[in-house]
Amino acid sequence: MKQECYPSDHWWFVPAITEKQGLSEGLTVVEQIAMKVFLTVTLLLALLSAYYIYIPLPPTISEPWKLMLLDAMCRGVTTMGTVAHALGFIHLADVLNYALMNLEEPGTKSSEDVRVSDTSFAGVQVRVFQSTLGKEGEMKRAVMYIHGGGWALGSARAGFYHLLGRKMAKDLDAVIVSVEYRLVPKVRFPAPYEDILLATKHFLQPEVLARYMVDPGRVGISGDSAGGNLAAAVAQQIAIDDSVSNKLKVQALIYPVLQALDFNTPSYQQNQYMPILYRQVMISFWLEYLGANPSYLQALLVNNHTALDVTQVEVARAKLDWTVLLPPALQKQYKPVVQIHGMAQILEELPALLDMRAAPLLAEQDLLARLPHTYIMTCEHDVLRDDGLMYFRRLQDAGVAVEQDHYEDGFHGCMAFAFWPAYFSVGLRSLDNYVAWLHKNL
Ligand SMILES: *[C@@H]1O[C@H](CO)[C@@H](O)[C@H](O)[C@H]1NC(C)=O
Repeated sequence: MKQECYPSDHWWFVPAITEKQGLSEGLTVVEQIAMKVFLTVTLLLALLSAYYIYIPLPPTISEPWKLMLLDAMCRGVTTMGTVAHALGFIHLADVLNYALMNLEEPGTKSSEDVRVSDTSFAGVQVRVFQSTLGKEGEMKRAVMYIHGGGWALGSARAGFYHLLGRKMAKDLDAVIVSVEYRLVPKVRFPAPYEDILLATKHFLQPEVLARYMVDPGRVGISGDSAGGNLAAAVAQQIAIDDSVSNKLKVQALIYPVLQALDFNTPSYQQNQYMPILYRQVMISFWLEYLGANPSYLQALLVNNHTALDVTQVEVARAKLDWTVLLPPALQKQYKPVVQIHGMAQILEELPALLDMRAAPLLAEQDLLARLPHTYIMTCEHDVLRDDGLMYFRRLQDAGVAVEQDHYEDGFHGCMAFAFWPAYFSVGLRSLDNYVAWLHKNL
């Protein structure tokens, strides 16, 4: 019975191994030399790539070897892109986006259970995934979804985010609006934020919801990474915007980016070299998003923009004081990095660093109190862990109903790796729990 599992045209597989010993006897001298050269080169390449691929990772992380491979691929594309960028051919973000769009098959097809269509909401491109399950004429739930990628990468129409939209629409029997907002470097802050806000306000209008058969009381917003940043910022604006009568029921933030004033939180210190989001890469994403001078990277690394002699930052300090906001067990042995003398010109040039539309963690408590039921997902091996955990604590203090999933073996971006062939155990688990939370609470 079991043998039938093997395709019959693979019968030669076993004889080939038993004939192996006699193989070299039939080769000419030239062929034998060629074979040796070939084997040597292969071995060297293997060693070189192992050296390139290997990075030390904590044993608690999900499937370390897979993660190393993934990290090496990211670094490979980034290195080539950086060279092209430095030579002035093309912007690094364009190279990475090209790789993302072309390595993954752009999915345009609807499936049996989900109708996919591209349209625009108030001039903003969106991809709408509509479940065709459920009873005819029954009102559905809906989620505005905002994809991640450092405000510069990714697409609602490709790879993971297309698959995610389809899965969410089907599993939740819902309408998912995945926003194709404009990206860096074509635009800078606040354009991506404004795109999401416009599209969300457009969708929340009663006549638009009715057209999609959506229950006005059951609309949520969600996003991962930089998309979590945009979702959180727009949820705050919707909560206080009197022109929007129909409010959001939930917000679900997946390893969100929430602040740029402290790049030395315990998680930034602990995970500074953790794939797939290194600390320097996150800071570069911020500088690009704000259209800032890239040479500020070194100054931001040491928190020079929030030194004690930078007075503009005084009011914001308590809102991200992790020595108070984080549980002591997560502070571990880490110490706050506070410079005595810094560079006040950074905040003068980049007031957006203090703008809650860019950094939702900086919102006042009375605004936070108006936010809807919240879900926050965080990963232990992620520079952004503490952004999410501090927001969790501040929402709790403001009296918001907020729930949390924390993954001890999680790394930044892991929920994107829940689809064949690039899946991780923590990716599958986190996606399941996220969808289950929405199912229960939306
Ligand atoms: C931080 O600011 C101080 C004071 O202005 C300056 O001397 C130092 O070079 C800065 N460090 C970095 C890395 O920019």
